[in-house]
Amino acid sequence: MTTLDKAPNIAAPRSRRRPAARRSNFELYSWLFMRISGLLLIVLVLGHLLIMNVLDGGVQRINFAFVAGRWSSPFWQFWDLSMLWLAEIHGTNGLRTVINDYATKDSTRFWLKILLYVSMVLILALGTFVIFTFDPNIATD
Ligand code: HEM
Repeated sequence: MTTLDKAPNIAAPRSRRRPAARRSNFELYSWLFMRISGLLLIVLVLGHLLIMNVLDGGVQRINFAFVAGRWSSPFWQFWDLSMLWLAEIHGTNGLRTVINDYATKDSTRFWLKILLYVSMVLILALGTFVIFTFDPNIATD
């Protein structure tokens, strides 16, 4: 006879079935996003630094014509657009974590995050607008 056989035969508790978990996986995806965007940013940002500041005379050669030449290529437009979106969303999500960690008052947390999200939307909209509407033939007089 085992200990289990001696255990009293207790009816199943009448607790209702537990409701399905209502928590989302948002924080998991946000954690993953920080890692993936971080890896992509290493390539995009280091490449950007190398091209803009080191190769072929570096920063000295950057002027309107240089930018116009680069942005005439969809490849560099896409590069800069990816860098803008990834850095902005990565930075915003990072600051969201910092605000959650340090702002203890509910209303402070709320307003800081509103400020953060509004600035994110403005910067993304402005940067995207500039990349897509850049006019190399703009009148300079
Ligand atoms: C160069 C490539 C980058 C890599 C590899 C990288 C990687 C990371 C990783 C893995 C985290 C998460 C840390 C954690 O959860 O504890 C993080 C957090 C953060 N990142 Fe980046 N990042 C990069 C670029 C940037 C850029 C360009 C910005 C700003 C626009 C930025 C702003 C932040 C902020 C504000 C946090 C939150 C810090 C915290 O939680 O204490 N990062 N980064």
